[in-house]
Formats: sequence, structure tokens, C-alpha cells
Amino acid sequence: MSPFLNLFKGEKQKVPPIWFMRQAGRYLPEYLEIRKKCQTFLELCYTPQLATTITLQPLKRFSLDAAILFSDILVVPDALGQKVFFEENKGPRLEPLSLAFFKKQLSADAFLEKIAPVYETIILTKAQLPPSKALLGFAGAPWTLALYMMGGGASRDFSKAKEEAFKNEERFSELLTYLADFVSLHLIEQVKAGVDAIQLFDTWAGLCPATHFERWVLSPTEHIVSKVRDIFPDLPIIGFPKGIGPHLKDYALQTNISALSLDASIPISWAKKELPSSLVLQGNLDPVLLVAGGQSLKDGISFLKKEMEGRSYIFNLGHGILPETLPSHVEDCIRMVKEPL
Ligand code: CP3
Repeated sequence: MSPFLNLFKGEKQKVPPIWFMRQAGRYLPEYLEIRKKCQTFLELCYTPQLATTITLQPLKRFSLDAAILFSDILVVPDALGQKVFFEENKGPRLEPLSLAFFKKQLSADAFLEKIAPVYETIILTKAQLPPSKALLGFAGAPWTLALYMMGGGASRDFSKAKEEAFKNEERFSELLTYLADFVSLHLIEQVKAGVDAIQLFDTWAGLCPATHFERWVLSPTEHIVSKVRDIFPDLPIIGFPKGIGPHLKDYALQTNISALSLDASIPISWAKKELPSSLVLQGNLDPVLLVAGGQSLKDGISFLKKEMEGRSYIFNLGHGILPETLPSHVEDCIRMVKEPL
């Protein structure tokens, strides 16, 4: 069985299971080689043979405990008919969604047909993955998806999208519910195709004001977890609400997730004291430490290992691997995590 999945069954592991957010991607030369073959990044996400190869690339090189499906959180708006483009080194661009007309602009009809290649990737990947390695599926949380969808892409603080949400809160809540339903469907289909666990990425949760956190972050997340758990009651679900600080407590208690992925700003001593001990913790090495390497990386890893001893814990970063990371640093990191204290 897989050390990653055993942890969720309540079996403490001597050595923490390890995987990295964004472990498949631009820091790997073999990814860049395949990337050249496809015109667009989304084409890559919808080509099961290539997406499977990319999902497995980091596991071929490194001794990781889990693979994460190669895809993107923005396949959900794309499959709902919103135009999504990825420009070279500029990040995503989306044809902006208007809150007043979102029901006309988005269409549920072709959703499953458009997104089906993602499930095909899962089937192909699962067939090639040994049972000791877990396969993770994922989706973006409604709040983060809505910011990209309304803002037309990435921005510094998503202030335009937030302004529109404040001006029409009722419609915005409707959009979040609409997205929560499709995210749930997408996650359920991923589990049916073979993923062993899922992670909900709420990268911009920290941009939600405290006054609206319940409505815009907690409630849609709770809705998704309950829909997925209706069908798969024991599925490990990891939440990654980045940048929310003390709200982590409410997030852990209210959403019913099984694990929390902590960003690098969260003090581990605080997390151990304040979060339920039954909750699996994941994280939270600063991704720049993995770029820097050397003694600071070593110290960062030893600190986490010591602090998390005896706790249900998955080693990971506080956010995704940066493109400038040397693959040799990833290898060093895994070796150090697996060494005895
Ligand atoms: O983790 C993995 O290795 C699995 C694949 C994965 C990708 N994106 C591949 C990708 C996952 C889990 C994601 C999640 C994702 N996508 C998030 C949440 C996590 C996070 O990092 O905050 C977000 C916000 C997105 C949206 C997105 N996709 C952005 C903002 C960008 C451009 C900037 C960037 O970080 O790369 C992407 C593109 C993207 N997604 C690439 C990859 C490998 C690079 C595309 C390329 O090759 O040009």
C-alpha cells in the first residue's frame, strides 16, 4: 500500500510521505521538450498520452510518494465555454466574464464532453503507476476560479473582479454556487476515473476580506466537500487556502477536509497548537529555499521534520515549485526528508 494513503487511514509514518505542488512542469527539461510539441498549453492538458507522460515524469526521476495529475485549474472555465489562453511567460488570459450575464456566457451542455480527456489521462496514468504511489486529482476552488474568470486573467490583486463582486454580491454568490457544482462534478469524475485523493487549490483565498470569508471561501468549499463525500465518504481531501492566516482554524473545522496544506507564512508551532490533531498537515517549505539549495534548504527541511515528528504530516512546499528550481535540489530535498533525523 501507499505511505501517502496509509497516513489518511490513521497510520503514522516514520518518514513523511512527500510530493511537491507543481512537480510536473517547467523546471524539468523533459517537460519543456514535450511542451515544444504542442501549440498551446491547454492542448497539452487535453492530450491524454502527453499529459500522462508529464504526470509520470517527476516520478521517473525522483522518489516521490504521489503523482499529481497534469492539468490546470482553468480547464473548468474552458470547458464551460469561456475562452482561456496561455500566453508565453505571461500567464493565463481569459475573455472576461460579466457577472450580469454569466448564465448566458457559460454553458453546462458540453462540459463533460470537453473535459473528458482529463479523465482519460487519469485512466492511462493509473494503469502505469505502482500501488505504492498515490494519484492525486485536483481542482481550483470557486473563489480563486471566479477571480480569474471575472478579472480576465492573473492580476496583482484582482481588484477589478473584487469590485464587481462587491457591487453585486447576490449574483457573485450565484456564480460561486454554479462553480461549486461544476467543481464537484469534475472532482467526482476524477475519482471515478481512478484518483486516490484530491486537492482543492484556493490560491487567492488570502485576498478575500474577513467579512466575506464565510460566504465566498468557506461555504462554497464546504458545499464541494459535502457533494464529493456523499459519494466517496472516505476520500482524502486536501485543502490549500493560501494566505488566510488565522482563518485556517475555521476552514479546518467547517469544511470537513481531511488535510490542510499550509503556506510558508504559517508558523508550524501555531498550526500544531491551534488545528485539530486529527487533521493531516502538509507543507510548508518556502519554494525559494528549494531554488537556493545549500545549508538554508537543509535547515528548513530539518526544522519541519523535527517540528512535525509524531504528527500526521506530508512533506511539501508552501506553494508550487518555481520554474528556476534545479532538479538536483529537488533530489537533495527528497533525500534529506527520507534520512533519519
Ligand atoms: O502540480 C502539478 O504539477 C500539476 C499540474 C498543475 C498545473 N497548474 C500545471 C501548469 C496544477 C496543479 C496547476 C494548478 C494551478 N493553475 C493553480 C493553483 C496552484 C498555484 O500554483 O497557485 C493556478 C492558480 C493555476 C493557473 C495557472 N496555470 C497560472 C497562473 C499559470 C501561469 C503561471 C504559472 O504559474 O505557471 C498556469 C500555467 C501552468 N499550469 C503551467 C503548468 C505546468 C505552465 C505552462 C507552460 O508550460 O507554459
